[in-house]
Amino acid sequence: MGQADNVARACVIGDPISHSRSPLIHGHWLERLGITGVYDRRRVATGEVEAFLQEVRAGNLRGGNVTVPHKETVARHVDVLTETAQRLGAVNTVWEDNGKVWGDNTDVTGFLANLDERSPGWDCKPEKAIVLGAGGAARAIIYGLLTRGFHEIDIVNRSPSRARQLAEDLQPQGARRLVPVDWAERSGALNGATILVNTTSLGMTGQPALDLSLEALPIQAVVHDIVYAPLETDLLRTARQRGNPVVDGLGMLLHQAAPGFARWFGQKPQVTDELRQLVIDDM
Ligand code: ATR
Repeated sequence: MGQADNVARACVIGDPISHSRSPLIHGHWLERLGITGVYDRRRVATGEVEAFLQEVRAGNLRGGNVTVPHKETVARHVDVLTETAQRLGAVNTVWEDNGKVWGDNTDVTGFLANLDERSPGWDCKPEKAIVLGAGGAARAIIYGLLTRGFHEIDIVNRSPSRARQLAEDLQPQGARRLVPVDWAERSGALNGATILVNTTSLGMTGQPALDLSLEALPIQAVVHDIVYAPLETDLLRTARQRGNPVVDGLGMLLHQAAPGFARWFGQKPQVTDELRQLVIDDM
């Protein structure tokens, strides 16, 4: 049973949810593309996740985004998972097709599309990547790096057990490409890297600084921080000043949003400078 007014509706669910920038992004695209649709935010407790998915299944909602802490719960309750979402065990985008609720994880394509756009050719020498952090974002990013053929991906995390678990979960069959590295070794690990990605919250406004020496990092290595507040973190500034190519995290946020919008509202949105500025002005 659809909504009586026949307006296409989607939303983001999470708890807390007030900080989510998804309504701003999707609202901009709805307006620019002249689509009569609604995208709002909903604070949803874990016990209410199934009712949300039922609304999508029934067609009352076209679908939505899923954020902390529901990504794993939703992955267990949708009807069909994309291969990516299945491998990651986490869903950030859902939609309905033929009475079934699908779940995907678009953090992977968001990460890759942003680097492809901001630093074309970043993966032409997929030798060694360094990923700082081992949370949900690191998981999606490491999966993305594996799809681009990186031979070695060092996972550097404060809690060693989390890095080991991530390496074990995503290790390709018959190869040892994911290497857990002690947090104390982070600066030395940069030797020979072709890309460095920070997925921790260190360096974000209000969080502690990231203490990392870039001395051992080759000057050609791309430095990417998925933190986008501030847009230029200390890590990116230091890297830029010594001559490394740098990519900030805002594009990942925008690119991960685009596939969901296309599913729910039927048009492919563009990640434009105007949209980037809109989000920056909101920070
Ligand atoms: P997300 O889903 O966004 O990746 P997360 O699962 O909370 O978020 O992961 C946050 C990452 O930042 C983790 O790798 C965390 O390290 P731990 O696994 O050891 O907790 C890292 N992190 C957060 N604060 C940190 C700090 N003060 N020093 C080092 N790493 C930190």
